[in-house]
Amino acid sequence: MMDINRIARPDIVAMAPYESARSSAVADGILLNANEAPCTLVAEPNWDRLSLNRYPAPQPAKLRHRLARLYGVAETQLLITRGSDEGIDLLTRVFCRAGKDAVIECPPCFGMYKIAATIQGARVIPVPRLSEQGLTIDYPSLARAIKEQPGVRLVFLTSPNNPTGDLIQRAELEQLLNACEDRALLVLDEAYIEFCEADSASELVAQWPQLVVLRTLSKAWAAAGLRCGTVIAAPVVIDLLLRVIAPYPLSTIAMDAALQVTAGSIAAGQQQLLATISAGKTDMLAFLQTCEWVKEVWVGEANFVLLRVPDAKALVEWCADAGIRIRDFSSQALLENCVRMSIGNNAEITSLKSTLRAFEERL
Ligand SMILES: Cc1ncc(COP(=O)(O)O)c(C=O)c1O
Repeated sequence: MMDINRIARPDIVAMAPYESARSSAVADGILLNANEAPCTLVAEPNWDRLSLNRYPAPQPAKLRHRLARLYGVAETQLLITRGSDEGIDLLTRVFCRAGKDAVIECPPCFGMYKIAATIQGARVIPVPRLSEQGLTIDYPSLARAIKEQPGVRLVFLTSPNNPTGDLIQRAELEQLLNACEDRALLVLDEAYIEFCEADSASELVAQWPQLVVLRTLSKAWAAAGLRCGTVIAAPVVIDLLLRVIAPYPLSTIAMDAALQVTAGSIAAGQQQLLATISAGKTDMLAFLQTCEWVKEVWVGEANFVLLRVPDAKALVEWCADAGIRIRDFSSQALLENCVRMSIGNNAEITSLKSTLRAFEERL
């Protein structure tokens, strides 16, 4: 079994974690240990219910329980964070020594892996996707980089990927996990997994300590404003991340709202949302097929599509003039003249389609 502590930063492994007033399980009785106010100043029932004069639990038990059930893992295998963005940051800080260690990413991919690594002073090793093969991952080069590049501590992969939308299959994942053995963690970012039929890899965490899965309430749970993500990993990884996370990272209000958006009563609404987005995507793709000026479409498995067009800047500006924001990816390697469009609601899709039609008429 891989010894995670051998690849983590030795100073973090050696550090005694900070003990906040709420880090012990005992938080009842007369609370005079955190210099809080004894009452709130707003006479409103909701404020009473939330006890906002008190610091929140560092990892609220009820939400941990809820997320563990939702993702099918043990509570000891998860850490609640301020979005997946914070999970990415914590992993980079715990596993990469500045000026020494490295992370691997497969661009084009989500931009925060590189940002987090750069902030931490870690080297970023890109293993670019294959442009001749639809921007799919170059698995042989990736496995080679994991095994041969010095100091690799984290391998960031995204399934479905942002912005290309493709999935990583189980067989490829397991081969990469083998390549990571005793060297690095494989961080599988599943921000968009609910939009597709594929199973999450969360259950594999019990078997592979080198696997970390990131989940979020920001996308398919329609709650990006909450900032609630989950790191799913072996308990030894979670313990290390707990040493670095802020003492009270999660606001009481956000955690209360997270319980509401993941309640059983939401399930039907979520199914409906996913069905609406799927139907909207089918509609949008059928429309795009009629646009001869669209050179390439990455359909993908998530709630967006990526297009290559003759002039991305002109298209993005045209849409902006109509009050519609789409994202220009032209500045990224391999994505010249590519734009990404999220799938909105029916009215938004209708507006986008008529704006694209008007753009076409100008060509
Ligand atoms: C692949 C991927 N991971 C993570 C995130 C950020 O998620 P969160 O809102 O949970 O920080 C995004 C946001 O767009 C994303 O595309």
